[in-house]
Amino acid sequence: MLYLSVRLTQHFALLFICLTCSEANGDVGSVYFGPNHPMKPHRLCMTHHLVLSYELHKKMEIYRPHKAYPVELAQFHSADYVEFLHRITPDTQHLFSHELAKYNLGEDCPVFENLFEFCQIYAGGTIDAARRLNNQLCDIAINWAGGLHHAKKCEASGFCYINDLVLGILELLKYHARVLYIDIDVHHGDGVEEAFYFTDRVMTVSFHKFGDMFFPGTGDVKEIGEREGKFYAINVPLKDGIDDTSFTRLFKTIISKVVETYVPGAIVLQCGADSLARDRLGCFNLSIDAGNSSISAVDVKVSLVVVLFAGHAECVRFVKKFNLPLLVTGGGGYTKENVARCWTVETGVLLDTELPNEIPDNEYIKYFAPENSLRIPNGHIENLNSKSYLSTIKMQVLENLRCIQHAPSVQMQEVPPDFYIPDFDEDEQNPDERIDQHTQDKQIQRDDEYYEGENDNDHMEVG
Ligand SMILES: *[C@@H]1O[C@H](CO)[C@@H](O)[C@H](O)[C@H]1NC(C)=O
Ligand SMILES: *[C@@H]1O[C@H](CO)[C@@H](O)[C@H](O)[C@H]1NC(C)=O
Ligand SMILES: [Zn+2]
Repeated sequence: MLYLSVRLTQHFALLFICLTCSEANGDVGSVYFGPNHPMKPHRLCMTHHLVLSYELHKKMEIYRPHKAYPVELAQFHSADYVEFLHRITPDTQHLFSHELAKYNLGEDCPVFENLFEFCQIYAGGTIDAARRLNNQLCDIAINWAGGLHHAKKCEASGFCYINDLVLGILELLKYHARVLYIDIDVHHGDGVEEAFYFTDRVMTVSFHKFGDMFFPGTGDVKEIGEREGKFYAINVPLKDGIDDTSFTRLFKTIISKVVETYVPGAIVLQCGADSLARDRLGCFNLSIDAGNSSISAVDVKVSLVVVLFAGHAECVRFVKKFNLPLLVTGGGGYTKENVARCWTVETGVLLDTELPNEIPDNEYIKYFAPENSLRIPNGHIENLNSKSYLSTIKMQVLENLRCIQHAPSVQMQEVPPDFYIPDFDEDEQNPDERIDQHTQDKQIQRDDEYYEGENDNDHMEVG
């Protein structure tokens, strides 16, 4: 089962989505890609239990999102692809070798038990998160089960089947003239970039490893968007071993300029944890959240831009400070215990809660032994990003951003034209599956399993 939870401060709410991991049915955290597959949805169970052990759920409300309907998935994906995902099972797949090849299912993206339900749940989570942001029921929404940024309109790619991020952004575009997408997964956010490559309504910014045939192979700094979308796709290609300080500095410089220039109405942040040091597939040297300790006194005196915090979670902290409606998702991450650590720390960051380094006892504590600590060991990959390389990339990105500033600001209109909202073909829909947003919102169930405190009914004061 999957849950959303919402924290409410005085006027704002924070929505959170995670899951429990009963073996009984096809929960997101209990599906299995296969014995040698690096994607382990079990990491979501570990995240969930770690979040609980730090009692972060007490600062949030928990909701169970609806399972996205096929017709909702087809807002972006082709109807035939969605239909095929719906129909295919491990037992029947040998009958469909032509379709499997066509939709790129197989080795990287295997057909497993409960595949479609898995997609419906994680996509439903991101869609619900966007709707709750649109309805101002929360100011931050998190879906750690989402963030599958490689999926394409008509095919699966890189362990991703349905692109929940695109679906969430389409939802946000119903209320916002401009949506900013930021991706700190070690892999290029190609599926999201491709979906919005020709439009200025969405700006995509991806920081990723590029070169040496690293998957998916796209994401050169020269890929900037086309037609209406020219200059609205930003790529920050990096080499192996980038460290906390350079990554954080580059991130902050670029993102502050992006927000200043583009003035988005909402932000979607994909927090793939495979950019952490010691990831099974990644090659960066980021820590989760390096504090002051890594900055020497000399640095503090010499440098004008003093980085007091650095690393993966500092990117989340930085984006939160813009105080814009924020949808946060997971993504890649293949060293399970570090993924759980990272997303737990980042849940804390989004709740303004600092977490003690020693992990409280919980059902999954054995995975964090022997240190039982939130911090992860330093990486062992040498930094191949020279200062001059990083500075060249930064200059190119900022130069492209200046082209937007000088363009006539059609994109600064406040209300998006209705005709832009992508529509599905009315004829193809099953009327039974067609439901309006109001009905859908009602189907999001609050889960009371974790509510004991006196603040249980805080959410009644909102909206
Ligand atoms: C980090 O160091 C700076 C300057 O040395 C200090 O002002 C700040 O309070 C420290 N922050 C934390 C969180 O320790
Ligand atoms: C990786 O980063 C950490 C923390 O910034 C640093 O101490 C370590 O030396 C780096 N590893 C390599 C191989 O450069
Ligand atoms: Zn990745």
